[in-house]
Amino acid sequence: TVLTARDPKEEFGDLIAALPRKEKFILIGRRLYKGFWLPEPYALGILAFQRRFTPRPDDVVLTSYPKCGTTWLKTLVFAAMARDAYPPAAADHPLRRLNPHACIPFMEDIFTKRQEAKLDGLPSPRLVHTHTPYALLPETVTTGDGCKVVYICRDPKDMVVSMYHYLRRLQPDLSLAGTFHSVLDGTVLYGPMWDHVLGYWHASIARPDRVLFLKYEDLLRNTGEHVRKLAEFMGRPFSGAEEAAGTVESVVELCSFDKMKNLDVNKTGTIERKYHSIAHDAFFRKGVTGDWVNHMSPEMASRLDEIFRDKLRGTGLTA
Ligand code: A3P
Repeated sequence: TVLTARDPKEEFGDLIAALPRKEKFILIGRRLYKGFWLPEPYALGILAFQRRFTPRPDDVVLTSYPKCGTTWLKTLVFAAMARDAYPPAAADHPLRRLNPHACIPFMEDIFTKRQEAKLDGLPSPRLVHTHTPYALLPETVTTGDGCKVVYICRDPKDMVVSMYHYLRRLQPDLSLAGTFHSVLDGTVLYGPMWDHVLGYWHASIARPDRVLFLKYEDLLRNTGEHVRKLAEFMGRPFSGAEEAAGTVESVVELCSFDKMKNLDVNKTGTIERKYHSIAHDAFFRKGVTGDWVNHMSPEMASRLDEIFRDKLRGTGLTA
């Protein structure tokens, strides 16, 4: 283990201890910082990331609200950016032997574990991931030339259902209603979700060359088109020769839900985070849109739709 950075507790412990707190939900407390309910175990990591991360101009920061397609985005961006070193059709591609989360570091965990020296050792262009809201990203990322940011969001109803199934792995007696209410009152995992989404939405309008805003549903509808868009945004468009060789289609195929879900590496094993471990297969459930109808009552669905309609009104973004 690389333990070089100063203990973030010494630097940010007092600040966090003074923040409003909510009791535990799925075994973790929440702290309210600048309008967002941060998972308490990661609050130190988020602050350390915010204050200590120095981007390189060609870094790409992948961002998302949890359960909105992070894993998929990671595979698509990794496969597209690493395609020279690792052709997507190659039998020994890293994504065939490593879980996607092992290919792209999670900032909250890296900074909580005081392992930021690992980031210095990564070759450029670096790909990193965080769930941190836009307003809490390092200023070095969001101002000036910063670096590129890609965000993915999803129909909140499918997010709730996906989150419920995922969190049940951590707390088996969790109910869908409990998950739903904590999303509705904004206190779960980096919530409120609408403010999280809107932060990135507004940033993508203000800084379109720096912030790309994606929706899971659009990606599912036409994955190839979005792989092209991502590659272009990251400054690595596909060449005519690559198009002719079917490289985009190979990326899409490699990262497809069925392919990923059925890899041995994703059927077994766990990710070891600072405070818990998560089975690799928890990240691959159904991979479709609209599964909420099988779990949520029409009343719950319209309540969620209503609140999002209300919060998003006049922003140009539709849920
Ligand atoms: P479901 O639970 O609705 O199936 P995250 O990666 O942000 O945790 O989001 C997880 C959601 O993305 C899960 O949704 C999961 O099945 C889906 N997912 C994971 N890999 C995917 C892929 N390659 N293609 C499409 N969806 C994928």
